[in-house]
Amino acid sequence: MSIAGRIEPLDEGIILSDQDFDAIAQFAYKHFGLAMSPSKKPLVSSRLSRKLRKQNIKTFKDYLKRLDGPNADQERSELLSLLTTNVTQFFREPHHFETLRKDVLPPLIERAKKGGRVRIWSAGCSIGQEPYTIAAVLHAMLPDADRYDIKILGTDIDPVVVKTAEVGQYPLEDFEGIPKEYKMQLEAGAKPETGRVPQFLRNKVTFGVLNLIQPFPFKGKFDAIFCRNVAIYFDNPTQQKVWQAFQKSLTPGGYLFIGHSERMSGPAAQYMKTVGITTYLNTPG
Ligand SMILES: C[S@@+](CC[C@H](N)C(=O)[O-])C[C@H]1O[C@@H](n2cnc3c(N)ncnc32)[C@H](O)[C@@H]1O
Repeated sequence: MSIAGRIEPLDEGIILSDQDFDAIAQFAYKHFGLAMSPSKKPLVSSRLSRKLRKQNIKTFKDYLKRLDGPNADQERSELLSLLTTNVTQFFREPHHFETLRKDVLPPLIERAKKGGRVRIWSAGCSIGQEPYTIAAVLHAMLPDADRYDIKILGTDIDPVVVKTAEVGQYPLEDFEGIPKEYKMQLEAGAKPETGRVPQFLRNKVTFGVLNLIQPFPFKGKFDAIFCRNVAIYFDNPTQQKVWQAFQKSLTPGGYLFIGHSERMSGPAAQYMKTVGITTYLNTPG
C-alpha cells in the first residue's frame, strides 16, 4: 500500500486520515508556502501526535478548527515550527561570506563612507546566526560601522525563532566553528554553558517576523539578500515568485545568496546572473 493510502494511528488512538493530512497540507501551503507531498504524512503524523496529546485534543478535525480559532496565531506558528527545521549555524556555507568580504562589502563600505545607505537582508534567518555572521564580517572590515548608515535585517516567519535571534544567546559549542579571524569575543551567557553575541554585533542587526510568500513591506531596496535553505520548502511556482520578489527588492548590482540545494528559476532568472556557487548578481536591463 502506498504511504498516501495508509492510516497512521497515533499513540492515543488518534488517526491521521488521508483527508486530514490533505487539509493540513493545504493549510500549510496557503499560509506558509510549504509544499508537502504525501510522503510527508508519517512525519506530520508523528510530529503532530505529541502536540495533540499534550493539549488533550481528541481529533485532527478539532485541531484543524483551532488553526482558525481565537489562538490561531500561536497555533499556526507552532504548526510551522513542527513542519520545518530551524537548523542554522554561524558561517554556514562559508564561501558566501568570503564573497561578502571580497566582492560585496568593499564598494558598499565606500558608498557608506560617502554618506550612502547600505542594507543587507537575511530572509528566513531562523535563530539569527546568519545575520550575526554578516555583522561579524562587516565589523572585521569596518569596526566603526555604527557611524554609517549600514543596516542588517533578519526576518523569519516564526516568531519564536525571531525572539531567540533578538536575544542572541546560544550554546557555547555553536561558537566553535567560527573562523579564527572572525572569532567574536563572547559576552557571558545567562547560563554558564551559553555565550551571547556581543552587544556591538547585536546593535548592527534588527529582527522582525515576515512571511516570504506575502508581499514585502519594504520601501527601499537591498544591496544583498541572503535567503538560504528556506525556498527548499516551497514548490516551484512559489520559489519562482519569491525569486522574482527578491530580484525586484535588490538594487542593480545587488547580490542574492541561496542555499546549496536551491536553484534560480523562472522570470527572475533572466536578470540574476550566476557569479559563484548559489550566488547571483542582479543585472536588470
Ligand atoms: C533551515 S532554516 C534556514 C536558516 C538560515 N537561512 C540558514 O541557512 O542557516 C529555514 C527557516 O525558514 C523559515 N521559513 C519557512 N517558511 C518561511 C516563510 N514562508 N517565510 C519566512 N520564513 C520561512 C523557517 O521558520 C526556518 O527558520
